[in-house]
Amino acid sequence: MCGIVGYNGAQRALPLVTEGLQNLEYRGYDSAGVALSNGTLDVYKRSGEVSALLDALPESADQYRGIGHTRWSTHGPPTDANAHPHTDCTGDVAVVHNGIVENYDELKSELEAAGHAFTSETDTEVVPHLIETALADGKSPKAAVQWAVGRLEGSFAVVVTMAGVDALFATRQDSPLVVGYGDDGAFVASDVTAFLEHTRDVTYLADGDLAILGASDGQTAGDVRIERDGEPIEPERETLEWEADAAEKGGYDHYMLKEIHEQPSALRQALSGRVDPDAGTVDLDLELPAEYVGSLEEVQFVAAGTSNYAARYAAELVEELADVRATVEIASEYEFDGGRDPWRTLVVAVTQSGETADTLAAIRKASRAGARTMAVTNTLGSTVTREVDDSLFIRAGPEIGVAATKTFCSQVATMTMLSVALGRQRGTLSSDRASEVLSDLRGLPGAVQQVLDRTDDVEEVALELADSDAFFFVGRWLGHPVALEGALKLKEISYDHAEGFAAGELKHGPLALVTPETPVLAVLTEGSRPEQTLNNVKEAQAREAPVIGASSGDGAGQYLDVEWPVPDAGLLEPLITNVYWQLFAYYVADSKDRSIDKPRNLAKSVTVE
Ligand code: F6R
Repeated sequence: MCGIVGYNGAQRALPLVTEGLQNLEYRGYDSAGVALSNGTLDVYKRSGEVSALLDALPESADQYRGIGHTRWSTHGPPTDANAHPHTDCTGDVAVVHNGIVENYDELKSELEAAGHAFTSETDTEVVPHLIETALADGKSPKAAVQWAVGRLEGSFAVVVTMAGVDALFATRQDSPLVVGYGDDGAFVASDVTAFLEHTRDVTYLADGDLAILGASDGQTAGDVRIERDGEPIEPERETLEWEADAAEKGGYDHYMLKEIHEQPSALRQALSGRVDPDAGTVDLDLELPAEYVGSLEEVQFVAAGTSNYAARYAAELVEELADVRATVEIASEYEFDGGRDPWRTLVVAVTQSGETADTLAAIRKASRAGARTMAVTNTLGSTVTREVDDSLFIRAGPEIGVAATKTFCSQVATMTMLSVALGRQRGTLSSDRASEVLSDLRGLPGAVQQVLDRTDDVEEVALELADSDAFFFVGRWLGHPVALEGALKLKEISYDHAEGFAAGELKHGPLALVTPETPVLAVLTEGSRPEQTLNNVKEAQAREAPVIGASSGDGAGQYLDVEWPVPDAGLLEPLITNVYWQLFAYYVADSKDRSIDKPRNLAKSVTVE
């Protein structure tokens, strides 16, 4: 989910590419770079925000072709060397890439054996070296790009420029790319925001399309040719109506809504290259010694806020799938208490930002006590990754909305993989059961999409109930953290009173608050003990509270005022339910015109204790 931009035309490329990068910075901001080409190729790149790159760039440059990239790391921390564009050994081929090359290990070994020298830790760098190989074999620039891309497995959007070749080549697989037709030049980008000030006349590339911007095959600079299966096609052109601000949000009114809708692609990225449901195996690239995993007595999660709720979900899965005691501590309350053997305790910090002061303080206490530590985070190179023994990345891409949405989903999905990996390594999880869970994970992006397809229904109910006195969320087992998270989301962005309860607790006190003016939202799926929760739903209904249930089985509907269906996904069904809760919270808040992306008093990253 990085940002890509390219230009080839009659204007000097540098200002257009840097302007594109500034417009795309919300897609990634840990490093950035530019490659400009004519007879030669000049590459500039820097870790940090785009402003750091701008300081390193010349004031002007003569080239008319250029590509740029703003990065959100998935392989290799954010350093100058790992910033894109990446080049081949000759320095004549430059590539920017968005996505993950799943078979890069294999390709890198093959290329290194053939004498290629790598200068970064990224998966991307295999692409320019593959192109170099094909050029050395006598292939044309276009054929070399096609051959190289044909060797890649995974998801990618790739744009290539070469010294002495008056064309940019752009192609994609499961990662967006859009071509823009300017008056005096052509653009390509991961997102229209990059060039919206210059043109609204665009073509969205389909998977496998190859766009050639510029003078290859007899075109002139500014022309665009799109090929599908090796043949030129007549591209479908459309004119965008979006304003720049809306474009940055992908046409959504808020980043939060965009990020809710990004969950299927974020999940695909989290799973990419890591799970094999047929074999029942997971590869998370962790270096946990088998002996250590086998002798583990406890997995202790530390986290704050939404990440704490993701951790609660994960702890239940670790106990269920890896058969080891798992506990969750609020980071700000954490002490490495007695009674634990630090050598047999794995302490896992769950933090999307990797910078939360409470969580960092907790992990330091665990390290001091001698426990092995791990971070589950969205941010390569963040402080937490430098303090722990192992890091596991959730690959959700940048999250701009203060309220965490897609990161919660990707945290739980990633820790489901971790639970399976631990279970397999400990020999406590059969390969059949692992296959089942991993198949459910594989199906998760599609299942979440089915919920997103019902956005209009959720909006309608949210608008009807928006003026209620308070909102209660209930669930059991894996549904309990989802109830807590549902309530947190609603209170954060709508400023309404909302609380989450273990469904069985309702009758022990909170029921006194239940009235016809307090909707109750219940998780009634597999993994949340729906039959028992239904009893609690009936208690609420008897007090005339409107009851909304997200359910995957039959039979609950008659006790509910509103029933939202959850696709079959075993232990992941409560996680899917959370997407309904996110949409509900969003539309309640939107009806009150709240500052959804930046709720009052809150910050995206809380770096004070
Ligand atoms: C809620 C939210 C916060 C964070 C919490 C921890 O929507 O975003 O509760 O979850 O501040 O942040 P990280 O995960 O960055 O440690």
